[in-house]
Amino acid sequence: MEERKITVNEILSLKGKRKITMLTAYDYPLASLVDRAGIDMILVGDSLANVVLGLESTTQVGMTEMIHHAKAVTRAVKRSLVVGDMPYESYQVNPDGSVKNALRFINEAKCDAVKLEWFDKCLEVTQKVIHAGIPVMGHIGLTPQTADKLGGFKVQGKDAETAKRLIEQAGSLEKLGCFALVLECVPDKIAGLITKKLKIPTIGIGAGVNCDGQVLVIHDILGLFERYTPKFVKKYINLSPMILKAIEEFKTEVIGGEFPAREHTFSISQDELNKIE
Ligand code: KIV
Repeated sequence: MEERKITVNEILSLKGKRKITMLTAYDYPLASLVDRAGIDMILVGDSLANVVLGLESTTQVGMTEMIHHAKAVTRAVKRSLVVGDMPYESYQVNPDGSVKNALRFINEAKCDAVKLEWFDKCLEVTQKVIHAGIPVMGHIGLTPQTADKLGGFKVQGKDAETAKRLIEQAGSLEKLGCFALVLECVPDKIAGLITKKLKIPTIGIGAGVNCDGQVLVIHDILGLFERYTPKFVKKYINLSPMILKAIEEFKTEVIGGEFPAREHTFSISQDELNKIE
C-alpha cells in the first residue's frame, strides 16, 4: 500500500469510478489498523461519546475530548484522509466560535477536514469554515446532535416534502463547496436521487447501496459496542465475547498460579543468587 496521504481532490475524483470507504476511529491502535487496511477516510466521530466514553448523547462531548482523540488518530495514520467531527457545542451552541474550533482540528489535531451536521444555521457556519480554507464534509438526514428536533432516531425523508427538503439541503451544501456529504438514515431511492444530482460524493450510513461510499462506526462492525445495534449495521466480527473469554482465562490462570509461566519470567544465575543469600 502506498504510504502517501489521500487528498480531498482524490476523494472527489473517486465519484463514479469506485465506491469510497470510510470508518470511524478514536484511538491509535484502531486508527492504525483502519489505515493499514486501505480505508479511504477515517472519521473521528462524535460517536466517541456513545461507543468509547459511555455517554448517552453525542451532544455530551466537547472540543477537549474530540481534539484529544483526533490527535491519537492522526499520530497513527499515514494514508487515509482524516475528518474531525465538530462537536455540538463547537458550532451549534457557539456559531461564532465555529471557525476557531474547526481550525483547532486542522492545526492542533492535524486532521485534513471537518464534518458538520445540518442544523438551522448550517449554511452560514459552513460558508465561514470553508471560507477559512478548511475542507468541509456535510451531514444531512438523521443528524444525531439534533435528533430531538427530528422526532428521535428515525429515518428521514420518507415523504415527498421532507425528501425534497433533503435534496435542497444537499444542493445548498454542494454549492457552498463541501467536498462530500454524509447521508444518514435516508431511504435508498432518495439517497440515489441526491447522489445522481450532486457532483460531490455521497457517503451513506443507513442510506442504501446507491451512495458513492459507505461509513460505519468501527465499534459496531467489530462487535465492540453492546448497548444497541442499529438496523444498518453489519457486524463483521463479534469481538466482545472473544475479549471477555480472554480476560476470564487470564483471571483463572492468575488465581490458579499458571500465569506467569517459565517463558514469561526473568531469571538470575545461581552464582549471583548465592552472593545475596
Ligand atoms: O459520529 C459519527 O460516528 C458519525 C457517523 C455516524 C457518520 O457522524
